[in-house]
Amino acid sequence: MSLFPQGSNGASEDEKRILVTGGAGYIGSHTALLLLQAGFKVYIIDNLDNSVEDAVQRVAELAGKSQENLFFYKMDLRNKDKLKRLFSIVKFYAVIHFAGLKAVGESVAKPLLYHGNNLIGTLNLFDVMNEYGCKKLVFSSSATVYGQPAYVPCTEEFPLSAANPYGRTKLFIEEIARDVQQADPEWSVILLRYFNPVGAHPSGLMGEDPKGIPNNLMPYVQQVAVGRRDELYVFGNDYPTRDGTGVRDYIHVMDLADGHIKALKKLFTDDVGCSVYNLGTGRGTSVLEMVEAFEKASGKKIPLKFVGRRPGDCSEVYASTEKAERELDWRAKHGIDDMCRDQWNWAVKNPWGYRAPEFKDQDQ
Ligand code: NAD
Ligand code: UFG
Repeated sequence: MSLFPQGSNGASEDEKRILVTGGAGYIGSHTALLLLQAGFKVYIIDNLDNSVEDAVQRVAELAGKSQENLFFYKMDLRNKDKLKRLFSIVKFYAVIHFAGLKAVGESVAKPLLYHGNNLIGTLNLFDVMNEYGCKKLVFSSSATVYGQPAYVPCTEEFPLSAANPYGRTKLFIEEIARDVQQADPEWSVILLRYFNPVGAHPSGLMGEDPKGIPNNLMPYVQQVAVGRRDELYVFGNDYPTRDGTGVRDYIHVMDLADGHIKALKKLFTDDVGCSVYNLGTGRGTSVLEMVEAFEKASGKKIPLKFVGRRPGDCSEVYASTEKAERELDWRAKHGIDDMCRDQWNWAVKNPWGYRAPEFKDQDQ
């Protein structure tokens, strides 16, 4: 498989080395696998704050022979000296930057932790990349930067805002990236705004394994289905949507991972500047529709309890996908039935995630 516009042999060894920060996490691990399968050398750094090394081992397992191109370093991005040491040993072509904390509620309670981790980690990364002349970056942004969108679908030109410290870290990093690129046009930066990633690798060997009580809908639904939780609390059934529950743009994690390969391919071309793309399907699905699809895929009944709206939640959010289709040649291929099928397959094979209960944290 060639990723290079100028022909399959166009990539030098330098161009093949990709640093993946947060690569032990949910989206990073799936992306790392696709990178290996596309012929890249993948260097993962992760502090394992919200992940386990087993995820990297599964990437290696699924990569087969290509696992010889996979390298893992337990490292915190806030440790600049360690980061510099890595850059002094390995010459990277580009960085895909997933590492960050992502729980909205926790960010409200612990703003300094979120700003400290996400902003200082990213500033260190920019600094070290600059110093070692690696100026190509793909960054994990989020649809959260659209705040409460005035209408849908969200296009990349929408005004930006943030409703919580987590969202502000994304907004600030986007702005920092724009400033850095404007000051030095040698930089090429792609900001990817993810909508709602769900599902798992079709093998059932990799998937989402949140620590503690899941914040997001589908990991929670999954834990109800395997008996780890009694019922799903549906946050609000009085929204102005078809069935009163919140509508989101759920995207299969494999499609999302593929979006990163396409973004990387774009970095091999000129005139990227600092570009931003939505990664979603362009379709909205309600909470009840998602639960129904999961019940169909799993054959399990998900008991529901309707409770009040979750503060800060929007009624309806989904993406305009035109720009990514046009400029990245990327389009999501999977629908919600595929997402639920693959997530259930992961759940059946790993009801406790990567690790058995006796090895889990106390709060599980
Ligand atoms: P995740 O928590 O599974 O992965 C993030 C990884 O980063 C974890 O493995 C964590 O241990 C690591 N990490 C955090 N801080 C670090 C640091 N200072 N140094 C080194 N490693 C660190 O989350 P994910 O769902 O895979 O999300 C990846 C990225 O995408 C995040 O930046 C997140 O904000 C963003 N995003 C996620 C979603 C979503 O719903 N999953 C939506 C939009 C954007
Ligand atoms: N929901 C429930 N019960 C739950 C969890 C969620 O009813 O236990 C509902 C929510 O109210 C919402 C929908 O399910 O209507 C989706 O909620 P998620 O928490 O799964 O996703 P959000 O769209 O609220 O937020 C997620 C991430 C954010 C990110 C955003 C856009 O948590 O960090 O997607 O990418 F910014």
